Amino acid sequence: MSVQTQLKRITVPEIRAHKGGAPIVCLTCYHAHTARLLDNHVDLMLVGDSLGMVMHGLETTLGVTLDMMITHAKAVMRGSKRALVTVDMPFGSYEESPAVAFRNAARVIQETGATAIKLEGGTRMAETIHYLTQRGVPVMGHIGLTPQMVHVKGGFRTTGRTEAEWPEILADAHAVSDAGAFAVVLEGMAEPLAAKITREIAIPTIGIGASPACDGQVLVMEDMLGLNPNPPKFVRQYAQLGPAIEAAVQAYAEDVRERRFPGEENVYPMKKAQ
Ligand code: KIV
Repeated sequence: MSVQTQLKRITVPEIRAHKGGAPIVCLTCYHAHTARLLDNHVDLMLVGDSLGMVMHGLETTLGVTLDMMITHAKAVMRGSKRALVTVDMPFGSYEESPAVAFRNAARVIQETGATAIKLEGGTRMAETIHYLTQRGVPVMGHIGLTPQMVHVKGGFRTTGRTEAEWPEILADAHAVSDAGAFAVVLEGMAEPLAAKITREIAIPTIGIGASPACDGQVLVMEDMLGLNPNPPKFVRQYAQLGPAIEAAVQAYAEDVRERRFPGEENVYPMKKAQ
């Protein structure tokens, strides 16, 4: 008799159950090869709209479209079997109304097979979060520094560094949690505020430039692998893939220019005539 192990994806309630327990491990992921490498080690993969900058060289996330998100999310789903995959709703795809948000979120879920979506905004998005979760779309919130607001804020500004800002951000956190989100990203936030939010709300907080008190962390994978020459200051680089890739490409270029083609030697030898 053969014993089969059924690999099942991590579910939304399982992520939700991390609240106050084992920290949630989360990285961004945009393509199939890296999804395969990450899959056994992270709880959650985020197909973030940061892919606009990382993969497509844009200056902000504002130029990212729903089609771009769907293309990358499909690749991540093909490369993974286990981690929960959450897909960012890009700028312009959800703010207009809960119904528009639902139509676009349903497209993401149907076309990619991903489990959940993430959207930016606190109190102002609470009605939409409630509408989506009531209709079968799990939502991850995102408050604090919300990159899609770059022009309104005049830049990528950290939040909560004066106590005067706290009531609004605390209200955002409670609104997202009460509306039914299963987790919330706290980005670019003063440490004591992120810790207070984590203590106060019922859902897990996932920090990025926030606080070690959060219920988990998310990093942009390329930042922690050393592919970004100017990573944010809170990022620990666990590898230096940028310099490693450059050294490998330099060695390859030298080989080719010196007419050394190591892999090409007699790859397909002639067959003897019958
Ligand atoms: O787009 C993204 O990668 C994100 C993370 C930075 C949280 O939203």
